[in-house]
Amino acid sequence: RIRAAALLLAVVLVAGLLAGCGGSSEADHRQIIRIGHNQSTNHPTHIALVAFEEFIESKLGDKYNVEVFPSELLGSQNEMVQLTQTGAINFCVASNSLLETFSANYTLFNLPYLFASSEAYHASMDDENITGPIFESTKQAGFEAVTWLDAGTRNFYTVSTPIMSPADLRGLKIRVQQSPTNVQMMNLLGGSATPMGFGDVYTALQSKIIDGAENNEMALTDNGHGDVCKYYSYDMHQMIPDILIGNLAFLEGLSEEERAIFEEGFELVNQVQRGEWVTAVEKAKVRAAEEQGVQFLYPDTKPFQEACEPMHEAMLEQYPDLKPIYDAIQAYNEQYRTVS
Ligand code: GCU
Repeated sequence: RIRAAALLLAVVLVAGLLAGCGGSSEADHRQIIRIGHNQSTNHPTHIALVAFEEFIESKLGDKYNVEVFPSELLGSQNEMVQLTQTGAINFCVASNSLLETFSANYTLFNLPYLFASSEAYHASMDDENITGPIFESTKQAGFEAVTWLDAGTRNFYTVSTPIMSPADLRGLKIRVQQSPTNVQMMNLLGGSATPMGFGDVYTALQSKIIDGAENNEMALTDNGHGDVCKYYSYDMHQMIPDILIGNLAFLEGLSEEERAIFEEGFELVNQVQRGEWVTAVEKAKVRAAEEQGVQFLYPDTKPFQEACEPMHEAMLEQYPDLKPIYDAIQAYNEQYRTVS
């Protein structure tokens, strides 16, 4: 937290200095809107947030100056969520995984094998009856989810052990995101869960503190994990969305007209990011195979799924209020089961 606060302060100071060097004699009275995320500037998420910046400034540029901070410049995701909670920054992108520690409702989207296909996943995330009760549940924590971003499918990848069944995970230290659901999933699958922030994973792989990790294909190329890990196994254990969250006081302080423009902007983030995502993943796969020598493996997903199954029942018992939402997702699973 201290690191994030110090970084933020430095960023604010530099931004202030730069604004002062603009050469204009008029002071810049615009309110700065800070948005943090942990991906590179090539990533679909960054591209989408820059589109948001341009959109908001084209509509409300005399009042707001939007600044996007990539690459954990404002801290790790956990730190950025806390900065968004307090209002030190206005928005950040956080994996749904982390948000379950702020509101238990988010646990639902972290369940392994919740969605039968990416079509069922997208349809569920686009249905406000499903996302609404979850996105609003962090209001008492000081923030609200304003849209979701695609983060593909999470799969295991390892330095030197091809994972073809859960038994292959035994004895391996696998990095997971910092959430109870992910630790539990790893335990059920037989590996040893090592929770840590995203930015620490590359060094941990390289120094052999961990034997592997799990993520979408972009982590191989954009974050360099494929330089170290040579086996990527499509066990398809989770489709965990990223969530754009906003400070509640900031959002509630917007006028009705402004809020409508921001809502249009959030929709734009979602559309641009999803459009970019499809080609970004295709390119990452080709690059990982051709330039990094990563082998893509296609194990039978059934044994992985069976090992995780008890988590569904356990979650519904613990959080019975989530049952209608869970059932609505099952209806999409039925509808889109056959599509890959
Ligand atoms: C993906 C996801 C990030 C997340 C990361 C992780 O890259 O998009 O939001 O931080 O996985 O595994 O931590």
